[in-house]
Amino acid sequence: MTFKAGQELTISGKVKSGCELFSINLGHDSDTVVLHFNPRFCYGSDNNVIVCNSNVGGWGEEQKEYSFPFQQGGEFKVTISFNNEQFYIKLPNGTMMSFPNRSGDDSFKHIDVQGDVKVQGIKLK
Ligand code: GAL
Repeated sequence: MTFKAGQELTISGKVKSGCELFSINLGHDSDTVVLHFNPRFCYGSDNNVIVCNSNVGGWGEEQKEYSFPFQQGGEFKVTISFNNEQFYIKLPNGTMMSFPNRSGDDSFKHIDVQGDVKVQGIKLK
């Protein structure tokens, strides 16, 4: 599956009860992640915050979003689109957030979800 600029990727699933964090990762491979979208329920000092970052030869600067429409044990749907400057992420409550496309690339073949969630659907259109 290749995710190209201008397309919409929708990931839906269910957060397991007791989930501390999960992440959606887009990039070229597991060592080249251009968008790490990481809702944290409780992780260290982070409670109910979304951390975004990139990891291209090392983690970059984190961006935090405090709108947190996720629940442990609840269902979620996140829709992502991008161009060579920004990722646009639609959260489950309809709120939009963005994160810079730090590689500037216009296609990503690595689409990976980590953590205590059950992925129910991945749609690309
Ligand atoms: C680290 C964490 C990574 C990643 C990164 C994002 O603390 O271990 O998994 O989430 O933050 O900046």
